[in-house]
Amino acid sequence: MKFYSISILAVAIMITASCASDNAPLYKDSSAPVEKRVEDLLGRMTLEEKVGQMNQFVGLEHIRKNEALLSEEDLKNNTANAFYPGFSADSVAEWTRKGLVGSFLHVLTLEEANYLQSLAMQSRLAIPVIFGIDAIHGNANAPDNTVYPTNIGLASSFDLDLAYRIARETAAEMRAMNMHWTFNPNVEVARDPRWGRVGETFGEDPYLVSLMGAETVRGYQGDLSSDDVLACIKHFVGGSQPINGTNGSPTDLSERTIREVFFPPFEKGVEAGAMSLMTAHNELNGIPCHSNEWLMEDVLRGEWGFKGFVVSDWMDIEHIYDLHATAENLKEAFYQSIMAGMDMHMHGVYWNEYVCELVREGRIPESRIDMSVRRILEMKFRLGLFEQPYADEETTMDVRLCEEHRQTALEAARKSIVLLKNDGLLPLNPQKYRRVLVTGINADDHNILGDWSADQKPENVTTVLEGLRQVSPETDFVFVDQGWDPRNMSASAVSRAAEAARSCDLNIVVAGEYMYRGRWTERTSGEDTDRSDIDLVGLQNDLIRKVAASGKPTLLILISGRPLGTEWAAEHLPAILNAWEPGMYGGQAIAEILYGKVNPSAKLAVTIPRSAGQIQMVYNHKPSQYFHPYAVTPSTPLYPFGFGLSYTRYEYSDLRTDRTEIPADGSVKVSVDVKNVGDMAGEEIVQLYIRDRFSQVTRPVKELKDFARISLEPGETKTVEFTVTPDKLRFLDKDLKPVVEPGEFILMAGPSSDDRDLLKTGIYVK
Ligand code: BGC
Repeated sequence: MKFYSISILAVAIMITASCASDNAPLYKDSSAPVEKRVEDLLGRMTLEEKVGQMNQFVGLEHIRKNEALLSEEDLKNNTANAFYPGFSADSVAEWTRKGLVGSFLHVLTLEEANYLQSLAMQSRLAIPVIFGIDAIHGNANAPDNTVYPTNIGLASSFDLDLAYRIARETAAEMRAMNMHWTFNPNVEVARDPRWGRVGETFGEDPYLVSLMGAETVRGYQGDLSSDDVLACIKHFVGGSQPINGTNGSPTDLSERTIREVFFPPFEKGVEAGAMSLMTAHNELNGIPCHSNEWLMEDVLRGEWGFKGFVVSDWMDIEHIYDLHATAENLKEAFYQSIMAGMDMHMHGVYWNEYVCELVREGRIPESRIDMSVRRILEMKFRLGLFEQPYADEETTMDVRLCEEHRQTALEAARKSIVLLKNDGLLPLNPQKYRRVLVTGINADDHNILGDWSADQKPENVTTVLEGLRQVSPETDFVFVDQGWDPRNMSASAVSRAAEAARSCDLNIVVAGEYMYRGRWTERTSGEDTDRSDIDLVGLQNDLIRKVAASGKPTLLILISGRPLGTEWAAEHLPAILNAWEPGMYGGQAIAEILYGKVNPSAKLAVTIPRSAGQIQMVYNHKPSQYFHPYAVTPSTPLYPFGFGLSYTRYEYSDLRTDRTEIPADGSVKVSVDVKNVGDMAGEEIVQLYIRDRFSQVTRPVKELKDFARISLEPGETKTVEFTVTPDKLRFLDKDLKPVVEPGEFILMAGPSSDDRDLLKTGIYVK
């Protein structure tokens, strides 16, 4: 890494020199208003420089590594790794020096970021590049950063303050390594567990996704200055309900569904101030999202007043031509995308040449280019990149992985693990279970970090086995390794575990999916890793059954980004814990829950269906969905949305409202009493659902409209009060116009979305 070392002192001198000069251009004056700086700079730029600002490249190290690893053929449908055939990393470095590159992604070290920035600083106008990175759950995609649970786990905490804090901490770690822009939050509403990206979403409920997304945006962006990073709400839109479950396949959705289900989190993200948005891989009703003017212009800017910039997803402008075939060549694809509202291209070499040609030919007005460049430059100014283009290599680790961030990662893991089943086995009594078998592909593997994680140092990750040994040192844990690879498990290792189970008092099987990005083509879940089934892969079911056949209590821990339909286990095992992708302290948090040091509190942010055949299965379905139930197999989920057990019990009573009739613009207060009737302190997530009883268009059987996370000591009762405001009763009428209709609304409160768990009352809108 010596290659990149530049002296911080030299950098400081360069910056000071440019500020001190009397003839310094206005755009370099940090005291001038941002709009003035933008206009001043724009006025000095050539067309090539402007178009360059709209383009992004992968980092030099990334190029070098992948040149050696991948063929041109491999590049075709790889959305994680790239190089540029016919061009080298040196060419990209040279373009940066010439001021023809606006942004980089996939730069994974501070040294490389500072180096690339030093090239940009040598360019004619010294416009800094903005570094984007997929910091989805912490800046985990780069080494030596805090790794929090992935979004699906975070959503299961229903803890908005936690989402905010994680985003703030992530921003600090990113700035400490000179990263300015995270490609998160993913605010897609996940309605298909076959899709491999469920783990990076906040689940299936538009309301929960909206709130989690908005808090995350606020946390990242702060007041958009030099301590903050730019958020990117993505992917716009509909890719989380692909027609066959595979990433990027077509999406065919009615405008009603788009507006009711998929738009709200994006609209809330814009309201929260998100200043960048990424379009989705997929076509939407026959039009690629990347050339969709209705989405980018009419809705995003027109209806919602979005003021930031739109970035394309990985090579997706290219795909307008080479995949969707709605443009006849690449240049036409660039044209279509820009004219539909695109501001920045992720990523590639032909952009500058073709887009400049399009302007010179008069097809794209230069004023249209100026519009995009303005938006991008404004962000660079506001984030303080002109004043602070580098980060300090000496102090970077004071921030990254600091104690406070580690504690948040642990807190988040504890709050994100869902106890799905407990027939009284948990919490474990170490006196009773002295010798414990631990086995399964995820028992001692860094895969618990989840998708979008780079390799992290062993001392910064607690695996499940390590967590168990740490939390219950008196227990004799017998580990039988099953390897990491669910697709290639060995029957003999399974037999060894079954054999070992006989001499143990208890069995812990840590099963699930494999998400590690380092083995891109071998994983079973994560980006571009979709499945036609949602059961456990490989010999994992065999392992569970054979171990359970020992007659010793067997508990299952699931590590996965997507819901898994483990029906046999749900029926036969005494305890199941769904740990999602719990991050760096996942092993510790799991062990603390198993041994009762932490009382589990998380609730499912997605429905867990029994099988892929039940898909689409969401809690907020329409009334007729199960009018004719499935023959042979049940029509109920394995576990419903909002469900999660605790070691204590909560009793709900006295659901009441402060009035029974309200005008269409009125509000009503709803209260419910919740008592901890067990003998352990705990935190409960109290949920409020609403149904419009009769309406001019069909409405879901229930929709989450509020929730509260409360703590209760044993014997303690708290009254939880929600306010139902008109927006919670509103829906889109036959003409897709918002309306609150007169009539009856059913209010439901309880610990999950399951009807059997809910108290009900009604109000009338007059
Ligand atoms: C993903 C995006 C991601 C981008 C850069 C794409 O394949 O769809 O979510 O931000 O790659 O890594």
